[in-house]
Amino acid sequence: MNFIIKIFYSVVVNLLIFLSLLNAQTNNQHPDLVFPKNWSNPTILPDHVILTFSEDPSTTQSVTWRTNTSVKKGIAEIALADGAPRFWRNLIQYTAVTTLMNADEILTANISSNYHSATFKNLIPDTLYAYRVGDGEHWSEWFQFRTAAKIAKPFSFLYVGDAQNYILELWSRLIRQGYKTAPEARFIVHAGDLVNNAHHEIQWHEWFTAGGWLHGMLPSVPTPGNHEYRNYNTEEESKNISHLSYQWPYQFTLPQNGPDLLKETVYFFDYQNTRIISLNSNRLIKEQVPWLDSVLSNNPNKWTVITFHHPVFSGAKGRDNKELRNLWKPLFDKHSVDLVLTGHDHTYTRGQSPKAKNTITGLNKKDGATVYVVSVSGGKMYTLSEDLWNEYTDAKLDRKAENTQLFQVINIDGDKLKYEAYTATGQLYDAFDLIKRYNKGNQLIDKVKQVITERSHTNTIIYENSKKY
Ligand SMILES: [Fe+2]
Ligand SMILES: [Fe+2]
Repeated sequence: MNFIIKIFYSVVVNLLIFLSLLNAQTNNQHPDLVFPKNWSNPTILPDHVILTFSEDPSTTQSVTWRTNTSVKKGIAEIALADGAPRFWRNLIQYTAVTTLMNADEILTANISSNYHSATFKNLIPDTLYAYRVGDGEHWSEWFQFRTAAKIAKPFSFLYVGDAQNYILELWSRLIRQGYKTAPEARFIVHAGDLVNNAHHEIQWHEWFTAGGWLHGMLPSVPTPGNHEYRNYNTEEESKNISHLSYQWPYQFTLPQNGPDLLKETVYFFDYQNTRIISLNSNRLIKEQVPWLDSVLSNNPNKWTVITFHHPVFSGAKGRDNKELRNLWKPLFDKHSVDLVLTGHDHTYTRGQSPKAKNTITGLNKKDGATVYVVSVSGGKMYTLSEDLWNEYTDAKLDRKAENTQLFQVINIDGDKLKYEAYTATGQLYDAFDLIKRYNKGNQLIDKVKQVITERSHTNTIIYENSKKY
């Protein structure tokens, strides 16, 4: 009898070991999501509905959406939002500009769609509106958004680094947690690499599906990353030729106030006493200098936030961006830019450049230098280099992370900018305040003591070998 029990025990133990190995093997393989054929194809119904700013956010609001090519016209309707369900009795109708996106010949896009774009105008500042889009017969649901105030009222916005990989699988929870943490946020800054393969229609459909109706409620402020530049065909690939994501100008209706060759990737807008600037760190870096100098010189706003993709100070080995630092950072110093929001490194770093001199006031900005952030929101994670920012003699790193999906909430209230970074599970990971002090530079109040333990590859769930790295 004992023998039978021993045999039985041995079989059970071996079975358990086998199952655990099988489980580990499954985790190691963890395949990418597979979508049914035509999953990302447009239909006669509006989809990819997205708000963007193209003019003054206090009186205008742009909306863009996609249909299949059988839908030849687009209509957008807007009304003052009201608790009564027939608020739409007071609606105003706009005819959209409808444009064919013929991407049949574009590698990984292989699709034709119609894009419809409308800009609501003469809106009342700081007012809640409801809108819907369609063709007169087929409609979206009613979405709501609030216009910016004309005056410097407090507001918040979200900022995220690279979504890029496992977008529907993993970026979805991150951006939805962002909305839960900051439901009153007024817009989302996307610091490049929104997708992995610039023209890939399925990946864009993942991005729109992951964000869902948030894209129709919270305007997006996108800046392109290196992954928004790819070849159109295999011949171009061999010649190392790349183009901005084919979908970009069709699906994002953005300000036209940038340099001619970089329209809708380089632009700015003002929001309640804050100037938000998008630069293109992929192309014509030198050519953007005079434009940036002018936009920073003629800036009546109290706060200035700049976003682009490649970090000024990189925390990852072999990813330094010297040209960009040499050409753009002197302007950030000269004009006392408050915050620079970037991505690309698939890690988190935040710090300042304390030895920078303010060339206007001559003050040593020991306490008041521009704050530089790198963050990541999607599922691909790199490793921080061992010497981190030590190679930069004029910069000091204050907070870092590996292997962690993050979103940031930035609140601007008068003389105070409150910055918070959160993990995908809503835990506060980094925090500081900037306080405006005239002719002295900003005071930075670090709140790192109030946040969770630093996260790295060594104290979090193993990442290597579990997916493509
Ligand atoms: Fe990236
Ligand atoms: Fe990148």
